[in-house]
Amino acid sequence: MDDERLVELACEARAHAYAPYSHWAVGAALLCSDGTVYQGCNIENAAYGPSTCAEHTAFLKAVYDGHRDFEAIAVVGGPEGGPAPDICAPCGVCRQVMMEFCDPASFRVVLGRSEGEGRPYLLGELLPEGFGPDTLR
Ligand code: THU
Repeated sequence: MDDERLVELACEARAHAYAPYSHWAVGAALLCSDGTVYQGCNIENAAYGPSTCAEHTAFLKAVYDGHRDFEAIAVVGGPEGGPAPDICAPCGVCRQVMMEFCDPASFRVVLGRSEGEGRPYLLGELLPEGFGPDTLR
């Protein structure tokens, strides 16, 4: 699974977004170490607080199914109803969700767009000195 394909799957997931308040549609594709991919979208709520980001949805689905080892996630977001022309960086909560299950030195976060190259980062670049399970050991 290369980054280009993972970004395509995130674009596909974006079409499932439920974003009637922000009108900002986000899709994510999470690659497990065994090659399985979980897709997620943002799912908003009238009370705002219970809204879930695309990355979080993908992790919830994967962990429920028993996955704990992950290699990479692609994220694509932009105004709903059209292409995502620019990258959409994960929010702080989503970076923390990644930190729970992923090694910041090797887990890759690919920030994609509808057209053109994705931009790969390491989780450790997006969340330096992160607080994670190892901190509590
Ligand atoms: N959103 C995501 O799905 N992922 C992020 O990392 C950034 C923000 C969603 C949340 C909300 O539904 C919409 O984008 C606007 O903030």
